[in-house]
Amino acid sequence: MSNLERLTDEQLSPLLNESEHAFLPSKNSPDETATSLVEKFRDDLNYDALGYIIGNRATSYIIALSGRTGNEIAIGPMYVAEDSRGNGLGKQQVLDFVQLFAERGYRSIYTKTWLGNTAARHTFESLGFIEVNRYERDRVNGDATISYAHQIIES
Ligand SMILES: CC(C)(COP(=O)(O)OP(=O)(O)OC[C@H]1O[C@@H](n2cnc3c(N)ncnc32)[C@H](O)[C@@H]1OP(=O)(O)O)[C@@H](O)C(=O)NCCC(=O)NCCS
Repeated sequence: MSNLERLTDEQLSPLLNESEHAFLPSKNSPDETATSLVEKFRDDLNYDALGYIIGNRATSYIIALSGRTGNEIAIGPMYVAEDSRGNGLGKQQVLDFVQLFAERGYRSIYTKTWLGNTAARHTFESLGFIEVNRYERDRVNGDATISYAHQIIES
């Protein structure tokens, strides 16, 4: 049973502030921050802000968005509070996300990260996400953007 909960704006807001510069922007949108990303995605048909509440405090978030096709969902920004990292929460959050959207009938999950984001890449790859595209020198520091897709096997 997943403990992933829908976060209210009040719960999400402090974590968004904390994560303001946690995402490496692309050269096309160098001023992008966590807040501007979430504002951009908020109108998406499938927007959902989920996360873990631990001891009354939102400790992580993961944003759901529309994927490339109707039966695909995308993972937008995801974040674990700095003082809670390295304990498996980030990986569990992606696992719970996959299970939740599998139950909702989605058949694949799409996401992106950047080459130097070892924790995110390790998380996705260890959960069976496959690299489907690489955009060289896409980020402001020259890093590549990597797209991943995960097929959900019907059981
Ligand atoms: C990415 C992030 C969500 C991971 O959260 P976390 O709770 O620290 O991750 P976990 O403890 O679940 O670790 C996930 C996996 O990555 C590995 N990992 C974690 N940090 C790592 C690091 N710095 N270097 C290498 N591997 C790392 C862990 O060993 C684990 O793999 P394993 O289960 O096979 O051992 C967190 O680092 C974060 O919020 N980063 C800033 C925002 C960000 O980059 N978001 C992703 C953008 S796509």
